[in-house]
Amino acid sequence: MSNFELKNTPCWQNLEKHYIEEIQNVHLRDLFKDENRFNEFSISDNNIGITFDYSKNIINSKTFKLLMDFSKEARVNEYTKKMFSGQKINWTEKRAVLHTALRNRSNSPIYVDGKNVMPQINIVLSKMKKFSDDLREGKWTGFTGKRITDVVNIGIGGSDLGPKMVCEALRYYADIVNVHFVSNIDGADIYEVLKKLNPQTTLFIIASKTFTTLETITNALTARQWLVDQLGDKAVVNHFVALSTNVKKVKEFGIDENNMFEFWNFVGGRYSLWSAIGLPICCYVGFEKFEELLEGAYYSDQHFLNTPYEKNIPVIMAVLGFWYNNFFNASTHAVLPYSQYLHRFAAYLQQGDMESNGKTINFENDRVDYQTGPIIWGEPGTNGQHSFYQLIHQGTKFIPCDFIGYINPVKKIGDHHEKLMANYFAQTEALAFGLTKEQVIESFNQAGLSKEDIKVLTNHKIFEGNRPTNSILINNLNSKTLGALIALYEHKIFTQGIMWRINSFDQWGVELGKVLANVILPELKDGSENNHDSSTKNLIKIFNSNKQ
Ligand code: F6P
Repeated sequence: MSNFELKNTPCWQNLEKHYIEEIQNVHLRDLFKDENRFNEFSISDNNIGITFDYSKNIINSKTFKLLMDFSKEARVNEYTKKMFSGQKINWTEKRAVLHTALRNRSNSPIYVDGKNVMPQINIVLSKMKKFSDDLREGKWTGFTGKRITDVVNIGIGGSDLGPKMVCEALRYYADIVNVHFVSNIDGADIYEVLKKLNPQTTLFIIASKTFTTLETITNALTARQWLVDQLGDKAVVNHFVALSTNVKKVKEFGIDENNMFEFWNFVGGRYSLWSAIGLPICCYVGFEKFEELLEGAYYSDQHFLNTPYEKNIPVIMAVLGFWYNNFFNASTHAVLPYSQYLHRFAAYLQQGDMESNGKTINFENDRVDYQTGPIIWGEPGTNGQHSFYQLIHQGTKFIPCDFIGYINPVKKIGDHHEKLMANYFAQTEALAFGLTKEQVIESFNQAGLSKEDIKVLTNHKIFEGNRPTNSILINNLNSKTLGALIALYEHKIFTQGIMWRINSFDQWGVELGKVLANVILPELKDGSENNHDSSTKNLIKIFNSNKQ
């Protein structure tokens, strides 16, 4: 199937016709005249305690059916089975995609190149348990015999965002060990972390799938120097561990192989928090909580694998995103958690989604002629309400949003939670139904405004509404529901990748900038000159002539 054909398939054509003829002028106010709408377009899973309400989307029963038809025609199910069974669906890197094996709690065998991967996964999990238990119990000490109080994770991208997001989300459960994350090659990042720490009680986790990433290796070398300057060379073995797929590079760096926690090429960086990359999570909240995270993800894996599409949360999330992306021309999607603990969730999903589906080349290795992955962004509510929500409500852009909220707060403090959640419910209501001209004038009249003021203000106060949202309402924020939530998004991303016929598991687009930075680095160090366009050349000149 070529690009041309995808847009010309009956399924795509049906959706396009349906959009133009039956949907583009429909308002959610009209759709909600159907009393049964919530029942038809919501799913409640009481086992894990998650309700997914997608009734505030601009769809009707026919839209839903046509979207389901499209996902079936795209053979999402077939690709899902391929992924879970270890087939090499990442064809540009010739790799299997098995983050699901990392949380395969059934322990049923999964084969890559004829070898069951589960035994090695279980060995590393046991090693992570032993290490994090020892560290937390004070059995693993620093070089001078002192207990480790601070763990510094040095990594970037998938070797940072996932564990950092999870540690923030589970912060309430943290007790004896502090974690810090250093990712940016800007020296300010490591400087600000190290200045507060005592080398005798600090452990560095160097997290890098490849162990060649410039940012991580540079920060790791700085950390090592800092430690060696104060405690000497021999201290390194007590204070450095590595999480990587690259034994050779880890050894070259000077980290003992015994202090390395391995993972494998079938784990993509942005899908790696379930692997050894989760070690800082184990240190921070304990291995049991990490296991619960895996269990939650496994729960969502089973839901994704075994639930008919019509009730399948990630599939529905995916088709709705596809609907807006490809028929309403929405170019962004906002993720808005009403939980301060999830304040890094959107940042994490930016890599998860945009590095996965920010692609233009399809299954046939041709350029697509339709839109693929959206821009993902967001901040926790209610902070976002006081910054960018104005544009979502009344701007000219069309922005579908996910609202994530919790029924019970992790810690009850006065009436904070009811106030937070009142905003959560109010926002999706306001976005969907808005405020009509008649309602605005009526409220002005009641407030006794002059005719002149009413004339000036009316249009400004109208909310058009018809802004679509998903509401994900979860009973409690804990490791299990967090694992489930993350995995739901992972499978949404996967499903969309299949529907767009792209490889969600490579990331060639990050390479060129890395190569060019290596060309430029000597120019900034010794003033040597390479060939550049006039803009880049002159900027480098200005930098070099002004640096002190
Ligand atoms: O540059 C992008 C990337 O390759 C991500 O995919 C990855 O998560 C990140 O760099 C870090 O890579 P590594 O874990 O190999 O240091």
